[in-house]
Amino acid sequence: MATVATASSSSDLPRTAKGLTAELNYVRYEHRLEEQYLPAIRALISKDLSEPYSIYVYRYFLYQWGHLCFMALDPFDSSLIGVIICKLEPHSVHSAPTNRGYIAMLAVAAPCRGRGVATSLVKMAIDAMASRNADEIVLETEETNVSAMRLYERLGFLRSKKLHRYYLNGNSAYRLVLLLKPIDPDGPADLALEEHERGTFTV
Ligand SMILES: CC(C)(COP(=O)(O)OP(=O)(O)OC[C@H]1O[C@@H](n2cnc3c(N)ncnc32)[C@H](O)[C@@H]1OP(=O)(O)O)[C@@H](O)C(=O)NCCC(=O)NCCS
Repeated sequence: MATVATASSSSDLPRTAKGLTAELNYVRYEHRLEEQYLPAIRALISKDLSEPYSIYVYRYFLYQWGHLCFMALDPFDSSLIGVIICKLEPHSVHSAPTNRGYIAMLAVAAPCRGRGVATSLVKMAIDAMASRNADEIVLETEETNVSAMRLYERLGFLRSKKLHRYYLNGNSAYRLVLLLKPIDPDGPADLALEEHERGTFTV
């Protein structure tokens, strides 16, 4: 799978950022790629995310839902530029049963940000989950993560809940939800949606 990401060129940029002037390679994760890419995936994600994830957390997602995970690769040397890791499973705690997609991790190498790489990765993940009959996609992001909030809200995600002191660093988070199917007004209530519609979440 390959998609175009446009960017302005600059001779000052590192190699991966220069690569964005060409067509990036967007690749669906496969188990055979673990040895080549898992160390780079861990390095990229642990650099910026506040939660320290063990190797087992990565394998939990990648072994079961590798088909919902995508990587952006430098077209020149195939090095990792960005990654998104997701899962999709039935969910019914406090709500009507839904097929719920979840974006667990998303990161783009710092020199390559602001050029649409994360947007492309999120769109691919949404398409992959939608094609597997997901009803909704949720995620949490730190309330202070302005670029992530803008990115997701631009793609149609709504704030469904504020999670106070959600992260180990004490920061609060927003739970965001993207509804992929129309809500059945006669169906059982969904707590997150009710909160959103009642406006009981704290902003
Ligand atoms: C959040 C993060 C993933 C965003 O990655 P990114 O690749 O820079 O995101 P995008 O380029 O798709 O979007 C960012 C901006 O670039 C703009 N953009 C999108 N496509 C573009 C393009 N082709 N050319 C220029 N700019 C573009 C977007 O409009 C957006 O601008 P805005 O924030 O002003 O609305 C990245 O900052 C990151 O890895 N942060 C650390 C980890 C993290 O916070 N992950 C999210 C946890 S939930």
